[in-house]
Amino acid sequence: MRVEIPTEAPRSAAGDSPVPQVGPARLERLRRFLYAYWLRPENAFWMTLRSLALDRCVPRAPMLDLACGDGVFSFLHAGGVFADEFDVFQAVGRLNEVATRNADMFDAGSACYRPAIVRSAARPIDTGADRKPELLAKAETLGLYRRRIELDANRPLPFADGEFALVYCNSAYWIREITTLLRELGRVVRPRGRIILHIKLAQLHDYTLESFRKQLGERFLAVIDRGRRACWPSVAPREVWERRFRDAGLAILDATPFITRTHAHIWDVGLRPLAPLLVRMANGLTPATRLAIKRDWVALMMELLDPICRPDFDLFATPSEPAEIQYVLTPGRGA
Ligand SMILES: C[S@@+](CC[C@H](N)C(=O)[O-])C[C@H]1O[C@@H](n2cnc3c(N)ncnc32)[C@H](O)[C@@H]1O
Repeated sequence: MRVEIPTEAPRSAAGDSPVPQVGPARLERLRRFLYAYWLRPENAFWMTLRSLALDRCVPRAPMLDLACGDGVFSFLHAGGVFADEFDVFQAVGRLNEVATRNADMFDAGSACYRPAIVRSAARPIDTGADRKPELLAKAETLGLYRRRIELDANRPLPFADGEFALVYCNSAYWIREITTLLRELGRVVRPRGRIILHIKLAQLHDYTLESFRKQLGERFLAVIDRGRRACWPSVAPREVWERRFRDAGLAILDATPFITRTHAHIWDVGLRPLAPLLVRMANGLTPATRLAIKRDWVALMMELLDPICRPDFDLFATPSEPAEIQYVLTPGRGA
């Protein structure tokens, strides 16, 4: 099925209007995400596209950012600005285990984490929640979340019925007990409230080098994947996600695709296998040399990613399902 991909943000999603644009224009936003995530430029453009899609939604309070991680994405989306020196690769750990045990290098280093903030986020978020205490400790330094809660989203959420006007989650496909989670989201959001989910579709698996397994071999694909698929137990096609929403009593108010097959192919390879080595190399430099190289790197990436970092960018002649969709949901039959 071909879906319409908006080229411009924002037109109000889900009957909310007008939409105030908090974040900066597209290229400035890409620049800020690149400075934070420079050694993984493929993540930077994906996050920029996420942030631009989110511009279609009106912020509401109180808000829950579920699986918020270190909060850097939400901080940048909400208009926060870091000094150019800051990036998420400075405070990392277990670099030797990234390749061998699929370790999360960011789940470490909170004790020495001091992000240089030039401007605070334009609006605070009431609650940030995640499973990893190290990431929540990093999130605390941003001054973005009024409270941070450690939880496992596979289990009932420790919040009251109708506690939030808005729940945002860009990691629902990481959650094994997805039926429980969707029902819980419907419970903790108030009547006529909004749930915004960024959902990866199963087609993403087709937008990889998998189909060249014979030519590339198992080892090649394992190095490229590095345990990524194992983190996504509930990835499913669009119709399955939409059935899950209905079964959980959630109505779809808006569905905005923003990652195309071409984006997914570029992201599939990216710099993922090199990242632990690049991080070691960058962190071994003097701060002045590191920043000088980072500036040139980001300038180059801005040129390369400018044409790519648009929600409708697709080099294939035939239409295809997107790789990620922003859903706006509400409990019940729709508001
Ligand atoms: C890809 S990261 C996204 C983090 C953040 N939302 C962002 O955009 O940078 C996925 C996040 O999901 C969290 N997560 C994974 N499984 C979880 C679970 N069962 N309960 C709560 N958080 C979970 C991880 O700790 C991680 O922070």
